Amino acid sequence: MSDQKNNYKVSLEDTRLSKRFLSWILFVVVLALFLLLPLASLVSDDASEALRNSPLPSDNAWTSGHLSNAHKIPELNQNCQACHVNAFEVVQDDSCLSCHADTNHHFDTALHDVSKLDGQRCASCHIEHDEPSNIISQNDKLCSSCHADMATSGAVDTELVDVDSFGSEQRGKSSSPHPNIKVSMLVPEGKADAMTWSIRRVSLKDKPKEQSNLIFPHDVHMNPEGIEAPSGDTVLACNDCHVTDDAGKLMQPVTMENNCRACHTLVFDPNDPEREVPHGEPDTVLLTLEEYYSRQFLRESLGRAPTPQEVREFVLRRPGKSVVRRAEQALNLASPWGKAQSVAQEMFEKTTCKTCHQVSIDESGDHLSKWRVDPIKLTKQWMPKHDFDHYSHRTTDCSLCHDASSSEQSSDVLMPDLEVCEACHTGVRTHENKSPTSCVTCHSFHLPAQKGWRQALESGSASKMIKQLGLASDGGIGGAKIVSSSK
Ligand code: HEC
Ligand code: HEC
Ligand code: HEC
Ligand code: HEC
Ligand code: HEC
Ligand code: HEC
Ligand code: HEC
Ligand code: HEC
Ligand code: HEC
Ligand code: HEC
Repeated sequence: MSDQKNNYKVSLEDTRLSKRFLSWILFVVVLALFLLLPLASLVSDDASEALRNSPLPSDNAWTSGHLSNAHKIPELNQNCQACHVNAFEVVQDDSCLSCHADTNHHFDTALHDVSKLDGQRCASCHIEHDEPSNIISQNDKLCSSCHADMATSGAVDTELVDVDSFGSEQRGKSSSPHPNIKVSMLVPEGKADAMTWSIRRVSLKDKPKEQSNLIFPHDVHMNPEGIEAPSGDTVLACNDCHVTDDAGKLMQPVTMENNCRACHTLVFDPNDPEREVPHGEPDTVLLTLEEYYSRQFLRESLGRAPTPQEVREFVLRRPGKSVVRRAEQALNLASPWGKAQSVAQEMFEKTTCKTCHQVSIDESGDHLSKWRVDPIKLTKQWMPKHDFDHYSHRTTDCSLCHDASSSEQSSDVLMPDLEVCEACHTGVRTHENKSPTSCVTCHSFHLPAQKGWRQALESGSASKMIKQLGLASDGGIGGAKIVSSSK
């Protein structure tokens, strides 16, 4: 009985196939399928094409995970060599730049030293084959490696303060927590015509004042009881004047035409409420008035409507330029020019234009250039170093970030400081019940104002060499221009 049982027992040795032998076969099969075959794809494009169209494994078999969502395109999914050019070599920046040629640099490499970026590649910050798809690394260390200590980052003469972390939780612990917000404001210099504008960064802690030359009190207009309008008292909402741009990020500029004129008409004659002066330069306004009153004068004296030609010729006969003549003319209110002059004076100096504008008076020149409306410049982007998005905050009440309703003057700066953001956002290392926010959520790395990456590195290395030689960055050795040298 027991013998019989033993007869049926077939051990591996009995088959003359050793364990080792089977392992070898398996090894060779795996080697052939997953190394030699895919390797063929690297050697010849034809083989690669043929393999990808066959059920056999191609170099795709080597993948360490799906490609990121942005790169799930046929050119890449089927084509590992688009990034992995040489076997056993990390992905080179050139591969990425072959498609992303217009990628900008982060700073001006002619000014700042790039060596801190040595050893950092596109792939340091852009992760592939990761799941969930995460092609833009959220690791703050990639930024704080330089920004925690700008003195050693290679930055030259930078005004940027050190930043190693974000969030109220880190504030107490960190040596260089995120600074309070500085706004970039347009600041005028000089007067009227000769006014020039420059951008100045000012900390909100210094309670800056804006000078746009536009007069506008938010509080009067945001009266919760409503404000007088042609259609009866109206309660204004913020978005009656502020509408986001197409990208949903910043606000479109406020204009007289779109946002004010419905209530603030440019009527100049109470007897003729249909007629308005154009909203433009004072000389145009004055000409419009002269034409209007000349037409009226001619109609009365001719007993018929004058032709436009007749009106134009009449306007040109206005008294000369001398101050005396103009004084006479101003006194002679019965003349059409005198009438136009006095109505204009009222509008520019007391009522209509003066409501919203700073108007300066210059008696020295031509009567048409007597009044000047100071140029208006409204700051468009208050935080250019940050990538704010109004759309993402559309469910938050405007007043949480902008205390506009109680603002009495347009010089008030209504921008929120960091504490407001920290009510909802905190750093990535957090224990708080807030939204963990990395540096790259709020800041861009590739900056539109900077040169292309490749171009920047090439010109940057030249400038670095010049700096090391102690020469001016626009000079060279004996007048010879230094052409790019490799780092
Ligand atoms: C969009 C570019 C891109 C494509 C296409 C791509 N990879 Fe990668 N791959 C990377 C990057 C980036 C890394 C990270 C390694 C590094 O830093 O170089 C990587 C890493 C790898 C690794 C890990 C080895 C290492 O160096 O860390 C393997 C294996 C790999 N890829 C296989 C593949 C295969 C197989 C394909 C084709 C299906 C493929 N990859 C397609 C960009 C790419
Ligand atoms: C064959 C061309 C090609 C190559 C090579 C390539 N990419 Fe891309 N990449 C694309 C395309 C196409 C997109 C999608 C563009 C879009 O959505 O506007 C993209 C998108 C991206 C994005 C944006 C993702 C997003 O969510 O906005 C990043 C970052 C990126 N690529 C980085 C890299 C890096 C790093 C490499 C090198 C490892 C690389 N790419 C190689 C074609 C390429
Ligand atoms: C290689 C070092 C280095 C790395 C890494 C680095 N930065 Fe910078 N960063 C700089 C230098 C240098 C400047 C320019 C300073 C200047 O112009 O005064 C700068 C400028 C900035 C500015 C001001 C930009 C502007 O418009 O003026 C911000 C914001 C910033 N970096 C954020 C970041 C973030 C976020 C990261 C990570 C994704 C990062 N940086 C990674 C060196 C670096
Ligand atoms: C009748 C039109 C109007 C309405 C309604 C209005 N604004 Fe304004 N807003 C303006 C004008 C004009 C300016 C530019 C002059 C200035 O700086 O005050 C401005 C500027 C601003 C600025 C940027 C200027 C700065 O100094 O910070 C903010 C922020 C702002 N408004 C928020 C609001 C909010 C919030 C509301 C609703 C509570 C609101 N506005 C309602 C017309 C309006
Ligand atoms: C819905 C109607 C309405 C709109 C729209 C409107 N205003 Fe007014 N505004 C008024 C009324 C009514 C007053 C007079 C309020 C008062 O004196 O109590 C006024 C007063 C003013 C004043 C004088 C404030 C003061 O302190 O006496 C200025 C300046 C002004 N508006 C500017 C503007 C500008 C600039 C815009 C467009 C951005 C604008 N307004 C849009 C109705 C409006
Ligand atoms: C209710 C307010 C308001 C009144 C009244 C008003 N303006 Fe304006 N004006 C504005 C605003 C707001 C702007 C800037 C945006 C724009 O161009 O619409 C402006 C812009 C201008 C500009 C261009 C300034 C520049 O630097 O770009 C001129 C010139 C001007 N106004 C002249 C006048 C004259 C002349 C009058 C009187 C006939 C007048 N405005 C009445 C609100 C007003
Ligand atoms: C919630 C959004 C937010 C986060 C997260 C954030 N920042 Fe900022 N950061 C800002 C704003 C807003 C400014 C002011 C913008 C300006 O000056 O134009 C700023 C300014 C800066 C500046 C300029 C500082 C100066 O000198 O005034 C640097 C550098 C900077 N941030 C780096 C970082 C780094 C590094 C991280 C990650 C550790 C980070 N930021 C995280 C919003 C943020
Ligand atoms: C979570 C905070 C937050 C909320 C909520 C918010 N804003 Fe802003 N707003 C900002 C920041 C930050 C800036 C500066 C952005 C920049 O210049 O880069 C800004 C800029 C502005 C500006 C001036 C610059 C421009 O874009 O023309 C206006 C006007 C403005 N906001 C109006 C509004 C109105 C109206 C609402 C409500 C519908 C609103 N904001 C909601 C934070 C906020
Ligand atoms: C009331 C809470 C709240 C406040 C206050 C707040 N945020 Fe946010 N923020 C959010 C939420 C929620 C999101 C995510 C929205 C989404 O995922 O679409 C967000 C998203 C963002 C983003 C990413 C935008 C994108 O979609 O790319 C930035 C940048 C940002 N916030 C900056 C700021 C800044 C700067 C401030 C302060 C001026 C601020 N936030 C104040 C709630 C807030
Ligand atoms: C220090 C980190 C870092 C390095 C190094 C880096 N990137 Fe980026 N990249 C980012 C961040 C952060 C974003 C997110 C959008 C932004 O900040 O501009 C991004 C966005 C992109 C995008 C999306 C489109 C855009 O411009 O917004 C492309 C494409 C891209 N990077 C390509 C590259 C290439 C190619 C290289 C190498 C030459 C590179 N990156 C090197 C951090 C980096």
